Amino acid sequence: MGAGVFSLQGQRVLVTGAAGGIGSATARLAAEQGAQVIAADLAEPAAIAARSGVAVAHCHRLDTSDRAAVEAFVAQAGRIDGLVDTAAICPADDWMAPDWDAALQQVLAVNVGGPINLARALLAPMAAQGGGRMVFCGSIAGWMGGIVSGPHYAFSKGGLHAFIRWLARRAAPQGVLVNAIAPGPVETAMTEGRGYRPENYPLGRMAKPEEIAATAIFLLGPGAGYAAGAVFDINGATHFR
Ligand SMILES: NC(=O)c1ccc[n+]([C@@H]2O[C@H](COP(=O)([O-])OP(=O)(O)OC[C@H]3O[C@@H](n4cnc5c(N)ncnc54)[C@H](O)[C@@H]3O)[C@@H](O)[C@H]2O)c1
Repeated sequence: MGAGVFSLQGQRVLVTGAAGGIGSATARLAAEQGAQVIAADLAEPAAIAARSGVAVAHCHRLDTSDRAAVEAFVAQAGRIDGLVDTAAICPADDWMAPDWDAALQQVLAVNVGGPINLARALLAPMAAQGGGRMVFCGSIAGWMGGIVSGPHYAFSKGGLHAFIRWLARRAAPQGVLVNAIAPGPVETAMTEGRGYRPENYPLGRMAKPEEIAATAIFLLGPGAGYAAGAVFDINGATHFR
């Protein structure tokens, strides 16, 4: 660990949801630690580049809920040492509405199907290259049901927490370390205008995206070599489990 426990020098890191708040912060911090960052999002490459600071040539439009698209993307991406998947949706809707089941399917496709698609595409290449890291985004909602979010989101994040444990057990013997972060409320587009009351939280504020991204950077680096199957709560003492 001579280069430092947080160093990502020489690593190629894929960040999905990279036009978003936590994803763009992760891309910036990973680059600061020396990684070559590949940034992907539903957004157009120019928008991803503008948000994340990643050169547009390394920004790609990718729908993580599309299995074939994820597999095709990974097949042409070259070596990927680390994945930080921050792509997710959290719609504001009414679960009693007649058309709500379509929203449920969409949330599950992105928030659960996305991580499964990425893990399925990356596990074998990471194992073949001698190891890798995967970091997924859970949520405080996956533990306690959420503060503002709906049942589809809470359900998806509880499922994500279970999935990373399932995957970590199977991936660790192949040198692939899988973990998740469960943030509390973070100042991003996902929470904007949704009626959060930061003054009620123990720290009197929501998290900054960088305060979540920093844990992802740790989990990609040499210092996290024995972290596997963990869900890291970064929630400013809003919830204990
Ligand atoms: N903001 C919070 O308070 C909070 C709290 C707990 C967990 N999280 C989780 O953190 C992660 C990042 O959230 P954020 O707050 O940065 O949200 P955000 O809305 O700022 O960013 C999410 C990004 O994901 C992208 N995306 C959505 N669907 C996609 C798809 N199918 N394929 C590719 N990209 C897609 C969006 O375009 C967006 O850029 C998510 O998993 C979220 O559930 C956020």
